[in-house]
Amino acid sequence: MKALLLAGGNGSRLFPVTLGVSKQLLPVYDKPMVYYPLSVLMLAGIREVLLISTTEDISQYQRLLGDGSQWGIMLQYKVQSQPKGVAEAFLLGEDFIGEDPVCLILGDNIFYGIDFSVQLEAVVDRTKLGQKGTIFGYTVKDPQRYGVIEFDEQGKTLSIEEKPEQPKSNQAVVGLYFYPNEVVSVAKQTTPSDRGELEITAVNEHFLKAGKLEVETLGRGFAWLDTGTHESLLEAGQFIETIEKRQGIKIGCLEEVAYQKGYSSKEQLLKQAQKLKGTSYGDYLIQRYSH
Ligand code: DAU
Repeated sequence: MKALLLAGGNGSRLFPVTLGVSKQLLPVYDKPMVYYPLSVLMLAGIREVLLISTTEDISQYQRLLGDGSQWGIMLQYKVQSQPKGVAEAFLLGEDFIGEDPVCLILGDNIFYGIDFSVQLEAVVDRTKLGQKGTIFGYTVKDPQRYGVIEFDEQGKTLSIEEKPEQPKSNQAVVGLYFYPNEVVSVAKQTTPSDRGELEITAVNEHFLKAGKLEVETLGRGFAWLDTGTHESLLEAGQFIETIEKRQGIKIGCLEEVAYQKGYSSKEQLLKQAQKLKGTSYGDYLIQRYSH
């Protein structure tokens, strides 16, 4: 399975903060935002990732993340010259995806929850074997800001609407999607919406109508954090800080995830950590793993 990590857009809701820097490079407490979705992909067992960003910003990502070999993964990069919509990722990524199934994750989405990696690995396995896509729903107070899933009384999915004025439920579609290879041709058939974007919701509707979409819910104990506004960005940082300080563990620590998943050795982890010595991030790794 390959993955696309979408880290473009113009971040206009966070202006002037994002006038000079890509949104997904902003700090969420002690690490860049993009570390969190990248760690999710690694936890899902996906090691081939195409990061998509703007002409101006792509070199910053290359500087930060390199080719991924320090974490035992393979990172490639692709420019999206205009923010033409989330679903354009599949067109930009067509060569990279090749014949494989594919996961798409939005670079500004933060996930945290018990056994999430187990859940993800199961979805990856199912997607590899079958012809169905999988999306995830999460209960939110303000569903009109998101893709919204409508269920019938038996819990069957009836529809998915993008930012409806009158949401049919409070289940938002999170920015993490798994599809069979067919998604590339589905995205190609998609036409721009009223707001001029190739919508991921149109792709999901296609799979839903074809009876090829699984919807899993992320429950009460799960955190799906938004970073779309100044307040939510700050709150996401505070959430990460609270858990990390209380438990003495780190969330989205790529060196740690790579080591625990068996992608990199302890020596590689410590080599990376030495470069960050004197920071809470580097010292965490050194203290935890240098014995
Ligand atoms: O966060 C989940 C939501 O993401 C879903 O519930 C919606 O169904 C989905 O459409 C999307 O909604 P947003 O309005 O939040 O999408 P936004 O335009 O903010 O873009 C999401 C991320 O993708 C953001 O980090 C910027 C990046 N992006 C977006 C577009 C449109 C790109 O890199 N290129 C693009 O062309």
